[in-house]
Order: sequence, then structure tokens, then C-alpha cells
Amino acid sequence: MKYQFDVELDRQNTASFKWDHCNCIFGTDDLLPMAIADMDIPAPPEVLEAIVRRCEHPVFGYTIRTDPFYDSVIYWMKKRFDWDIEKDWILSTPGIIPALSYAVLSFTKPGDKILIQPPVYRPFFDAIEANGRTIVENPLKEVHNGNKIHFEIDFQDLEAKLDGVKLMILCSPHNPVGRVWSKDELERIGKLCKEKGIIILSDEIHSDLIYKPNIHTPMASISDFQDISITCIAPSKTFNIAGLCASVIIIPDKNVRENFSKMMFNCGVFLGNTIGNIALETCYTKCENWLEQLLVYLQDCKTEIESFFQKNLPQLKIAQSEATFLTWVDFRGLNFKTHKELEEFLIHKAKLGFDTGAKFGTQGQFFMRLNFGCSKSTLREALSRLKKAVEKL
Ligand SMILES: Cc1ncc(COP(=O)(O)O)c(C=O)c1O
Repeated sequence: MKYQFDVELDRQNTASFKWDHCNCIFGTDDLLPMAIADMDIPAPPEVLEAIVRRCEHPVFGYTIRTDPFYDSVIYWMKKRFDWDIEKDWILSTPGIIPALSYAVLSFTKPGDKILIQPPVYRPFFDAIEANGRTIVENPLKEVHNGNKIHFEIDFQDLEAKLDGVKLMILCSPHNPVGRVWSKDELERIGKLCKEKGIIILSDEIHSDLIYKPNIHTPMASISDFQDISITCIAPSKTFNIAGLCASVIIIPDKNVRENFSKMMFNCGVFLGNTIGNIALETCYTKCENWLEQLLVYLQDCKTEIESFFQKNLPQLKIAQSEATFLTWVDFRGLNFKTHKELEEFLIHKAKLGFDTGAKFGTQGQFFMRLNFGCSKSTLREALSRLKKAVEKL
């Protein structure tokens, strides 16, 4: 079946965070939102059909997870990543954001050190700070290559910072820079953490959205690190169903798992979302073909962005992305004095709503994140607005 991704969808008045919350995020509705990590792309028709079928039964009572739920996760991990997992290893949470906090609460005490690699997804900072733990930053290194920036792990700094750290929250693939960590890089991280008895929470929510020839390796699929790893995955980004709140946490080690699931229980999280579970099972068993076609479409958008920037916006650089529908843009070449001035310029002059780089840590100053999971005409409109505004500076 051939799926359509390049479609104009009006998402306004659907309680969309991206489209119906602009005033709150940007202080105005008069802009084109290219923020928030969901796509303006319809979910797979197979998922919609499964949901409609379930809705033929009129009761949405308390819902457990049955064998097809677990089997679908086991099938997907084997099929996509050649990783054999067991049913017992699988837990489920309403999202990965809460799972970050469960891990922080399970494996650390107030004041303990937790390491992250900024610029990185804001809730990593929040889960640590809101729970009274201490952030240790191992910033990514920038390697410039023409108008592209390749982000790398600073292993020397990582090694120097790991003393006393209890938990590392790894973003794999990395949001916002789009790196797919190689097996070699993961082995180096794993080895350092294992030596120091550090648990790794590997947030792999973007692991299905990988561009060839890159290959995603789940941290816990490397047998040496299975006993220190917590793997977070979800169909939410991949199949655009974030609003259905069904995520999966895979923990092979019994002690680590019991610790984590006790915290979930203490927080009252154990039952499932009726529709979310059905959607997850359908995504993981019936939608691989949809995903393969989506990746071709997104690759096309990514290529268009890369050549547009190179040709029309040579003052700006972009991260050399290997995954996700997000582009990390470096605006330092425009020489704004403050990040706030850059924000104001984009919102009020370009009339574009990007995710502000400041959310991703101090390393995000003068950067913005652009979401290209949308129609080509929306993407082209955004690029054209940006070009026109930059030309007027
Ligand atoms: C790295 C990363 N983790 C987690 C999430 C959100 O996860 P959830 O919606 O399952 O809470 C996102 C969403 O953008 C993300 O980029």
C-alpha cells in the first residue's frame, strides 16, 4: 500500500499543543509553528482502523496489558534491532517523561549527581532539578564541516565528570542534534559507567526514525551493559501518536527492574490506556511498511532543508542529522547580541515558531530547533519566511 505523507492537515481546534497553544508558547498566534516534536502527518490508517474497531465496544474501563501487547514489543525489537527481549523485562508508562522521574527517584537520593549531555531535551534537566538532584553536564563537542556541525561526545570530559555520578540519562538517538550513537561510542559510554557502578537510562524514543546508512543499537542489547540499562521506547514519535500516551520501558536486570517498578507502583502507575495499548500493538505489528515510506518522505524533506540552507542561508549552520524529524539550527552567524533578540526576530519578523535553543541548556544559546515533520508546502513556507527575514536584517 502506498501511503500519503505530504498532506495539508488543519490541526487547529484539535487541542494540539503545537497549533492551539502558540499564544502561550510564543506570546502570539500570528506565526507558523515549527516547534514541538510531533508531526503534521496522519497516523497510519491501520492504527485508525484498530481504534475505530475498539470503539465499537462502548466500555472503556480499567485496562490491563495482555499477551498481544508484550508480543508486539518483543516482535518490534527483534525485527528492527535484532534484540531478543523477554516479556518480564517489559514495563509500560504513560510516557517517557514520567519514566525519567521514576528512574531519578528509584536510583538516586536528593543531592546525588546525574549526568546528561547538553544541548539536550529539556525534561532531562527538569526530572533532575525538580526532584532535588544535581545536574552534571558533559556537553557535546562541535566539529564544523562547511555549513554543517557534527556533534560528538567529549569522552575525556565524560570520564573526568563521572566520579560520584549515580545515573546517566543518555539521549540515543540524540534530540536535538540528531546523532545516532555508533556501537563503538555506546561501548565506550557503557564501559565507563559500568566501571563506576552507574545506571544508564537510555532514552531511545527516536530510535525508529533513523536515516540510512546509520544503524541504531539499543544500549541494553550490548550484553555487557544489559544489567545497568533502562531502555525507553515508544511508538509515539515514530507513528505520530504521542497523545495516546503509551510508552515502553525495557529493563533486563531483575533488581533494577524491581526497583523501578516499585517506584511506578508508589506513584500509582500500573494500568494501561485502552486506546494507547491497541495503537501500540498495531504500530509494532502492522505498520512497518508505513514507517519505511515515512522515512523516505522525511529524508526528502531533510535533503531539501540542507540544500536550502546551503544555497540561501550561508550565514547559518545546521547539525549533521542522522535521525529524527528535527533540525538543530545554529544562528550565531547572524550576530544577535542576545538569544532573546534572536527569539524576537524569529517570532515577530520571520513569524516562525521554532523551539528555542535556550530550552536545551546553555549550549543552546543562539540555536533553534526546527520540526520538519509536516507537508512540503508548510516546510517551504517556513524556509521562505526565514530567508526573507534574514535578507532584511
Ligand atoms: C528524547 C525525548 N524523550 C522523551 C520525549 C517525550 O516522551 P513522552 O511523550 O513519551 O513523554 C521526547 C519528545 O519530544 C523526546 O524527544
